[in-house]
Amino acid sequence: MKFVDLGRQYQNYRQEIDSAIHEIIKESRFILGKPVEDLETALADYVKVSHAIGVGSGTDGLLLALMAMDLKPGEEVITTPFTFIATAEVIAFLKAKPVFVDINPKSFNLDTSEIRDTLAARQKAGARMRGILPVSLYGQCPDMDEINEIASEFGLVVIEDACQSFGARYKDRLSCGLSDIGVTSFFPSKPLGAYGDGGMVFTDDPEKADMIRCLRVHGQKARYQHEEIGLNARLDSIQAAIVLAKFAHFDDEIKARQEAAIHYSELINRKIPEIQTPEIMPERTSVYAQYTIRIPGGLRDQVAGFLKQEGIPFAIHYPNPVHLQPAFKGLGLGPGSFPHAERAAEEVLSLPMHAFITPEEQEIVIDCFERAIGVTWTKKLK
Ligand SMILES: Cc1ncc(COP(=O)(O)O)c(C=O)c1O
Repeated sequence: MKFVDLGRQYQNYRQEIDSAIHEIIKESRFILGKPVEDLETALADYVKVSHAIGVGSGTDGLLLALMAMDLKPGEEVITTPFTFIATAEVIAFLKAKPVFVDINPKSFNLDTSEIRDTLAARQKAGARMRGILPVSLYGQCPDMDEINEIASEFGLVVIEDACQSFGARYKDRLSCGLSDIGVTSFFPSKPLGAYGDGGMVFTDDPEKADMIRCLRVHGQKARYQHEEIGLNARLDSIQAAIVLAKFAHFDDEIKARQEAAIHYSELINRKIPEIQTPEIMPERTSVYAQYTIRIPGGLRDQVAGFLKQEGIPFAIHYPNPVHLQPAFKGLGLGPGSFPHAERAAEEVLSLPMHAFITPEEQEIVIDCFERAIGVTWTKKLK
């Protein structure tokens, strides 16, 4: 069994993917051009935004989004400490400062009720606040309307890190089209994944779109005419063609992932009710980039050890909150700074999840899980 079975997905779409790759090689259009434009048009239509810009990765997309808002050294951006490092890394990379707000322990996303107080305190301290960078973790959006409202009160830009949530619904809209800029990733294991790195930036703002297009090719507007200091952050054409071939099946895959999530939750609630299954907030859907549960009582690592021994694949997203990573020690934020994020890091565990997992495989996972819980619970009682 695999955590994400990309081989099984390939077997299902083999002809479409092979012919998409061969077409690029035959045409020898390896850099930008039609394959990237076709994907940009298809995904912009899907999300219902005016501009989609293919970039080298989700990280590149976040970096370019911050560059397009002209984030300057010393300026501050609110974000979550419970995410993949890239979210905060790009802020720090531009010599700006990530200001963390703790998460809601049910959704694992930014606790919107804390953002206002943090912003007010930072403003009082004379900080130059510029933006909010919420993450739609595990495939579910935070309360984006609330975040946009707070941002407009304080005159801030909102960039949604939608690297795990492409296809997720928030009210009647889609992730990536919920704020000034949305950024997703085509990392191979993402719900819409390439066969290498890739990403896409979405915006309705024509000026920001132009700037991102310019920055992704060395700040170039006309050939060898460099208007800005940019970088090479283009979406690879072969990756664009692969993602477009997979996109034809994307809605079916989301449905399959959601059905698999329902099946997992039913099994867990029936057999091991001590375990907290994912909660989807009102008026939202999740694309289940991860199906992530919580194992309370300090038993997560023992359960993980048992699963490993039994050959059941799993992952921990994420074992260390960002503020406790050595790379961020300069911020001076020790343990206890964000208790919900720190507790989540000790309790979460993600189970195998992809559109081709079978109910039988899920039952094997949960049976093993049940045994793991039994063993660790019994050990704890001794
Ligand atoms: C929340 C989040 N942000 C950013 C990224 C970075 O995306 P990429 O790996 O495409 O650079 C990822 C992907 O792993 C992610 O999960």
